[in-house]
Amino acid sequence: MPADQLRRTRIQDLLQSTDLNREVLVKGWVRTRRGNRYVQFIALNDGSGLATLQVVADAEKFPEESLKEVTTGSCIAVRGQLVASQGKGQAVEVQATEIEVLGTTDPETYPIQRRGADQKGISLEELRKIAHLRPRTNTFGAVLRIRHALAFAIHDYFNKHGFYYVHTPIITGSDAEGAGQMFRVTTLPPEHPPRTEDGSVDFGQDFFGKQTNLTVSGQLEGELAAMALGSVYTFGPTFRAENSNTARHLAEFWMIEPEVAFNDLVDNMDLAEDFLQSLVKYALAHCAADLQFLNDTYDKELLERLKFVTDNAFQRLTYTEAVEILKSAKKKFEFPVDWGTDLQSEHERYLVEKHFKKPVILTNYPKEIKAFYMKLDDDGRTVRAMDVLFPGIGEIIGGSQREEDLTKLETRMAEMHVPADELWWYLDTRRFGTAPHAGFGLGFERLVLFVTGMTNIRDVIPFPRFPKNAEF
Ligand code: 4AD
Ligand code: MG
Repeated sequence: MPADQLRRTRIQDLLQSTDLNREVLVKGWVRTRRGNRYVQFIALNDGSGLATLQVVADAEKFPEESLKEVTTGSCIAVRGQLVASQGKGQAVEVQATEIEVLGTTDPETYPIQRRGADQKGISLEELRKIAHLRPRTNTFGAVLRIRHALAFAIHDYFNKHGFYYVHTPIITGSDAEGAGQMFRVTTLPPEHPPRTEDGSVDFGQDFFGKQTNLTVSGQLEGELAAMALGSVYTFGPTFRAENSNTARHLAEFWMIEPEVAFNDLVDNMDLAEDFLQSLVKYALAHCAADLQFLNDTYDKELLERLKFVTDNAFQRLTYTEAVEILKSAKKKFEFPVDWGTDLQSEHERYLVEKHFKKPVILTNYPKEIKAFYMKLDDDGRTVRAMDVLFPGIGEIIGGSQREEDLTKLETRMAEMHVPADELWWYLDTRRFGTAPHAGFGLGFERLVLFVTGMTNIRDVIPFPRFPKNAEF
């Protein structure tokens, strides 16, 4: 094939190739260039995987002067021979015959160069300030590839298990969780909105003719679909204006919400457990190099912890039992525990990391601290809720069996001041062919956090949204 018709090969594919001594074309970003008067070695990465390709440039053909633009961060195209490597650390390398600089980088101003080619010497916190460039580090390359693999595995899991993917709206008129932490969507002028006679803003004149917001959950619409398609799931962005400046909260995060007609709480737990274990197994099988890198760089127990989750059944117990354990624990908690209080992450992590030393599913929480749609238990005090708690994370899944009885649901809504008139369409599912059903929500970034072993949720989404931060 004439050289100019040569097609680019991904570095990941070249590194696995056994078809040697042929001409290849690669393109990517220079991680480092080093060498001596006789030969220069360029470590090239194109994002297809963690490993870099070693490009060898002999001085005879490439005097050092000709390589002065080949600096860390620059983008180059290389033609050459794929040959067995003489050096350690790689099986193959490319003996360059032609190097074209596609994009130069000023080493003085390139922020990643200044602090070292990888994140070594630059903290994850500093990298957050240059979120637009951090995908070029080994760490973020690995995290983003794992994130992709998990998203793919989620669709794959549901597809294989007979679930249909439904797209629920991002702009909604309701508050699915009844928690009132919503971002308003409006086209009314902020300075002079139209007003009604009593002086309040006239949302009747707004774009949708009513107040709207960004969705906090696709669940309510997911339930409508489950009452027709049986097993469904949503996987989309959700938005919460809670002012939680923590390492586990984002204002914009992705949530996976399966909803299954005829499932009860036990079916729901079985699904959640099998689902999570399958996803972790998928990552172990398909992201080995990236996981090994994160394990070695940040968290020596990462791989062990992942295998532990795939190999051990989750501990299931009720909220009431958990409160007893926490009350008799020797540990002093910052927030005291008593029956009826919501559990804090310190309590959740004590149960998982200290007491049971494995993932935990807590069920049957007091109705007062859970959402209106959860099915009331026979004792009238608790609801069929379930939270899945993970080591290092706390709550990774929240879900429940749903109240399918119209009268009981309306009573709960009235007690919790959830406006039934706005949710007439939701109540219609209970009016027309209602059925027992259950579902849950998995926070995608919390899953990615667990699988990558990162410790801050802002480091597992390309462009994190949190209070006072929407720069990139
Ligand atoms: O427990 P939550 O609020 O449950 C729901 O929204 C239900 N409608 C789900 C359902 O039953 N279909 O949220 C579900 C999960 C949490 O367990 C957590 O993993 C994640 O979503 N989550 C967040 N992740 C990142 N940042 C935040 N601010 C989050 N809030 C919840
Ligand atoms: Mg929850």
